[in-house]
Amino acid sequence: MERRLPKPVDFAQILKFKAPEWNPTRRRLASALTIADLRAIAARTTPRAPFDYTDGAAEGELSLARARQAFQDVEFHPAILRDVSQVDTSCTVLGGPSAFPFGIAPTGFTRIMHAGGERAGAAAAGAAGIPFSLSTVGTTSPEGVREANPTGRNWFQLYMWKDRDRSMEVVERAAKAGFDTLLVTVDVPVAGARLRDVRNGLTIPPTLTGRTVLNAIPKARWWVDFLTTEPVHFASFDGWNGTVAELLDSMFDPTVDFDDLRWIKDQWPGAFVVKGVQTLEDAKRVADIGVDGIVLSNHGGRQLDRAPIPFHLLPEVVREVGRDTEVHIDTGIMSGADIVAAVALGARFTLVGRAYLYGLMAGGQAGVTRTIEILSSEIVLTMKLLGVSTLDELEPRHVTQLVRMVPIAR
Ligand SMILES: Cc1cc2nc3c(=O)[nH]c(=O)nc-3n(C[C@H](O)[C@H](O)[C@H](O)COP(=O)(O)O)c2cc1C
Repeated sequence: MERRLPKPVDFAQILKFKAPEWNPTRRRLASALTIADLRAIAARTTPRAPFDYTDGAAEGELSLARARQAFQDVEFHPAILRDVSQVDTSCTVLGGPSAFPFGIAPTGFTRIMHAGGERAGAAAAGAAGIPFSLSTVGTTSPEGVREANPTGRNWFQLYMWKDRDRSMEVVERAAKAGFDTLLVTVDVPVAGARLRDVRNGLTIPPTLTGRTVLNAIPKARWWVDFLTTEPVHFASFDGWNGTVAELLDSMFDPTVDFDDLRWIKDQWPGAFVVKGVQTLEDAKRVADIGVDGIVLSNHGGRQLDRAPIPFHLLPEVVREVGRDTEVHIDTGIMSGADIVAAVALGARFTLVGRAYLYGLMAGGQAGVTRTIEILSSEIVLTMKLLGVSTLDELEPRHVTQLVRMVPIAR
């Protein structure tokens, strides 16, 4: 073996240094390759109480863990030798366009996670061409969301309150602000038992424990944002003392039934969707009312623990009601491949809750944009590897659901 002295040009070819990124948020976001990476950044940058409020679920958190596991237990069946040089990820949902088959789920109290809150989410969603949903217990008004996302699609999520006139006033405001879809959430007759919030003293106003305060001190950026922006208040109501769960219980009307649903539907001019359907029987009853869509969801595992896994319900619900009613799904989506699997099994659309909030906590609007980039590039990659170039080509034959738990035969 002959040896020689290396020349500078040899090094230049094998060692290419990245231009340094001085902005710490941008540097962190660029290093996140998955939603799990964004979650890890969020855990480092956000005080424990709001992080746990987002990350946690009800009781033993089994509903959430099982829903995520169900997506991981997918086996894909790729078709080979297809031209996938161009992939179209766009779809029509509830009569309008979306650049990808996912939108941002409604989440409450969003500005405690990051001061940018719903405005950051709505602006990022609008720029990416996907719908944004505002919760009844959101921390930005419908008009504020419209301002942040003036040309994109905004959806409003309704919790029916005991005070019906007040509930419908907010709905009217959303309609006036151009929101094109109403999602009525039906899985919260009472609030679920979110134990992390009780342990952390996440009440309104906060009743902080020593541990919560100690944990929050090093999260300087969160504090600066929190203290130097408009105080957190609720878009639709104000002045509350108690835990989040107690607040929900005081507001929500546990008597709401199918007649009320029809009553709300009659008053809404746009697309009408019921969120939180968890059995085939209820899917049929809701579809019979003539709604435009249903969301199979167990509220991200934040309500009934050990609830049905929405992804497992999907094929039979699509088979039974999917011809006349759009079937959407959420709970447990952590990657673009999860979304592709859901679409293959007949979901028209999906919603992402925590995936969006991890991005928000990790870096405000830029963080939500990073969430959307990660999910959308995973969708494109999975579609190409499956050999499909449009969402319509995705079919049940592309996916097998490997099931760990099966019911005991009765
Ligand atoms: C922090 C947080 C707050 C939420 N607030 C609401 C809400 O106000 N209204 C609602 O209908 N759903 C709410 N959800 C449920 C989401 O809309 C969605 O169903 C759920 O997050 C989907 O599961 P995923 O987080 O695994 O994506 C919330 C979820 C989270 C994580």
